[in-house]
Amino acid sequence: MIILFSTRLRAHGALLCNVRKQRKRTLTPTNTQKKRIFARFSTLQHNDMILYFSAAGNSRHVAQRLAEVVHTSAISIESVLKENADAEISLTCNADEAFGLVVPTYFWGLPRMVERLLQRLSVEGDGYRFFVTTYGTTTGQIGTFAHRIARKRGWAFDAFFSVRMPDVWTPMFDLSNKKKVSRRLEKAERELDTVAKAVRARQTGNHMHHRVPMLLSRLYHWYGFHHYTTARFSVDAEACIACGLCAKQCPAQSIEMCDGLPQWTQPHCELCLGCLHRCPKFAIQYGKNTRKHGQYLYAKQ
Ligand SMILES: Cc1cc2nc3c(=O)[nH]c(=O)nc-3n(C[C@H](O)[C@H](O)[C@H](O)COP(=O)(O)O)c2cc1C
Ligand code: SF4
Ligand code: SF4
Repeated sequence: MIILFSTRLRAHGALLCNVRKQRKRTLTPTNTQKKRIFARFSTLQHNDMILYFSAAGNSRHVAQRLAEVVHTSAISIESVLKENADAEISLTCNADEAFGLVVPTYFWGLPRMVERLLQRLSVEGDGYRFFVTTYGTTTGQIGTFAHRIARKRGWAFDAFFSVRMPDVWTPMFDLSNKKKVSRRLEKAERELDTVAKAVRARQTGNHMHHRVPMLLSRLYHWYGFHHYTTARFSVDAEACIACGLCAKQCPAQSIEMCDGLPQWTQPHCELCLGCLHRCPKFAIQYGKNTRKHGQYLYAKQ
């Protein structure tokens, strides 16, 4: 099934044209599928659009700031994927419009949910398409990974940017020093100002920092997602208040509440650490270091 959504009402024509073109290539949509196309379409009446993935709030903050710059709203990738199930997603970005993707770097590459979105996403039209990653230490080759998937789907980003923010991978990095975290956030805000100016000016090219060789990035990305399993999660039963927030907000539906405590139901998840950082009692830990390295949410600073 093909689902299409446009960045603006004026693009109705382009959307319908796309629907017609896609129909030629695929089966004619059923009435239910047509309803979904228009239901989706009616919720996305923006001049421009930014899609983001964020667990601890860094990327959401960046997406929202840039959305102000291009006068639009930021939409979470999680909600787009939920609404569109396994459907193809086609977006029309016309010449005076912009499309942005704002996501965190995971293991020198893309979060898996973002990979899944890109593998189903087509962006048509001559508008400005930009990619921004938030990161803690190095962006690895995330831009190249995103670029390659887009290319395979027949489109391309015009610009790549990065913003260094607190590193929420607390199995390794220490966020317990609030002063250090605040200093990092102040610097991040200045970096974000620069990115915002560049986006406003429709700047093109690769402006990312801290890249590492492709082969190393590929290896580390593969290793990260295979090595770190959900078996490392633990819950402090005394601290847990059984609020169920961790299970409700998990983007991978990997947590179930069992006898008032969270349980991880799959060996692998998105590894976003949203459950750990959002828990109101800091009852969830991952490995031995996360307790001493502290909890972090962008809005809480
Ligand atoms: C599983 C995981 C892997 C990460 N890998 C990297 C990495 O390879 N390089 C890096 O600089 N930061 C890495 N980080 C840190 C995040 O990219 C960074 O903190 C980001 O701003 C978090 O975004 P969010 O608050 O929107 O979730 C990682 C974080 C997680 C949870
Ligand atoms: S969010 Fe924390 S307190 Fe709430 S159920 Fe999960 S572990 Fe328990
Ligand atoms: S279990 Fe925790 S780390 Fe894994 S996807 Fe869910 S919220 Fe993210």
